[in-house]
Amino acid sequence: MKIRKVQFEISAVRPEQWPQDGLPEFAFIGRSNVGKSSLLNRLLNRKSLARVSQHPGKTQQINFYNINDTLRFADLPGYGYAQVSKTQRAAFRKWIVQYLEKREPITRVLHLVDIRHEPSVDDRDFHRLLLELQHPVLVVATKLDKIAKRDIAKHIQQIRTGLQTPNPILSISSEKNMYIDELWSVLETDLTA
Ligand code: GTP
Ligand code: MG
Repeated sequence: MKIRKVQFEISAVRPEQWPQDGLPEFAFIGRSNVGKSSLLNRLLNRKSLARVSQHPGKTQQINFYNINDTLRFADLPGYGYAQVSKTQRAAFRKWIVQYLEKREPITRVLHLVDIRHEPSVDDRDFHRLLLELQHPVLVVATKLDKIAKRDIAKHIQQIRTGLQTPNPILSISSEKNMYIDELWSVLETDLTA
């Protein structure tokens, strides 16, 4: 995809604040610190469009980005981070669920999981919800640069089993720019479907 124009639109939680023009939308969902904002920046070739941090809990609302006036990315707050308050965690969860239940233009959900770890209980719960809601999903295994090549297949299998998912799994590294073109191909195929 040739990125001609990227525009940050709004940071919002309430549905009435969400952009209403119906552009096809890709949602980035996953545990706090898994690399959602980093991936969005990498896909858009922008260093710090979306704020990235080593500290979990960076993205606190749903951030909408308009690309070329033809598609949209929604960067969601992460779930499952123990260090934010219980109230805050519950709020994040509620906003994510509400978004997934109500947002009509969702074209595909990118469910990010860390390739190094077995899916957490939260990963499993959210994945089950995605399946229940029948969203098209691509599981994106992040931080591929952190494991040895010979271990990749084993880790992907662990994720497949853990999530009990029929969905495709693509491993990527935002940091080392690995398989980002492949991910774009999936999105572009969705847009022409
Ligand atoms: P929240 O906004 O808190 O939900 O986190 P997030 O999922 O948006 O994660 P973010 O993109 O802020 O990245 C978290 C940390 O992981 C940062 O220190 C990133 O530099 C690092 N990171 C992200 N992607 C990669 C990757 O592909 N490889 C490596 N090694 N580190 C990565
Ligand atoms: Mg983030």
